[in-house]
Amino acid sequence: MTGTPAAHEALAALTLDIAREAAAYVTSARPPGRVPVAQTKSSPTDPVTEIDRATEELIRARIAAARPGDGVVGEEGEAVAGDSGVVWVVDPIDGTVNFMYGIPAFAVSIGVEIDGVVEVGCVVNAATKEEYTAVRGNGAYARTPGGEPVRLAAQAPPALSHALVGTGFNYVLATRLHQARAVTSLLEHVRDIRRGGSAALDLCALAQGRLDAYVEQGLKPWDLAAGGLVAAESGVVLAGLTGRPDERLTMAAPTALAAEYFATVRACGF
Ligand code: IPD
Repeated sequence: MTGTPAAHEALAALTLDIAREAAAYVTSARPPGRVPVAQTKSSPTDPVTEIDRATEELIRARIAAARPGDGVVGEEGEAVAGDSGVVWVVDPIDGTVNFMYGIPAFAVSIGVEIDGVVEVGCVVNAATKEEYTAVRGNGAYARTPGGEPVRLAAQAPPALSHALVGTGFNYVLATRLHQARAVTSLLEHVRDIRRGGSAALDLCALAQGRLDAYVEQGLKPWDLAAGGLVAAESGVVLAGLTGRPDERLTMAAPTALAAEYFATVRACGF
C-alpha cells in the first residue's frame, strides 16, 4: 500500500494539512517586533527560537498520531526511527532569520521519504500562506490563498548570462567565505544574485519562475527535501558535486540550462 498512487495522495493530503496547521501556528505565535533567540546552533549567528521548537513539536505530534510507525528527521529534535519505511523530513521554520526580523519569507517545509526517496513535498510560506506541493511523478503545484492550485513549469532564461540565481550563505564562517568567493566569480556569468533567506522557498521560486537557477552549500536534508521535489517536479534538474544534491553542494536549473550552468558553477569554485 505504501507505494501506491492512492497511498501517495493520502500522504500528500496529510502533509499539506499538517504544514498548514503548523504555518498557522507560526504566524499566530509570532510576537510583534523582533523574535528573541532561544539558542544558537552551528555558529553564534545560527539561531533557533522557541517557536521553531514548538512548531516542530506540533508537527511531530500530528505525525505520531496519524502514522505512529513512521520515522521523523527534524531540524530541532532527535531523529525517530520508524518501522514503516516512511520518514518525514521536517523543517518547522525554514528562514528562521527572516522570521526573527519579520521578513515575510519563512516556511514550514515537510518532505516525506519512502524507502529513502522523497515522494511527497510541501512548503508553506507562513507569512504569505503561499503553498507549494509535489508528489513524485505527478507534478508540482502552487496555490495562493483563495486560489486554485496552478501547475508549475520552470522556465529557462534565453541564456546563462540572463539567469537570476538564488543562493544562500552558510552560518559556518569557513563555508560562507568559500561561498562568497565562488559567488563573486559566478556574478560575471549571470544576470544577478538573490539571497532570499529560505532554501525551501528559493527552490519553490525556481519552480515558479521567480528565479532561473540556484546554488548553495551546507544545506541540511530538511532544507532540501520538500523544495527539491517541488523543483524537480516542475522540470528542474538538481545535482551535487557527484550525483545527488547534498550538503556539500546543491545546484539546480531548468533542463535546458542545467549542463552549462552546472559546469559554470563548478568552474567558479563551489
Ligand atoms: C537556512 C535557510 C537559508 C540557508 C541556510 C539554511 P534555517 O535554514 O534555508 O536560506 O541559506 O543554509 O540553514 O536555519 O532558516 O532553517
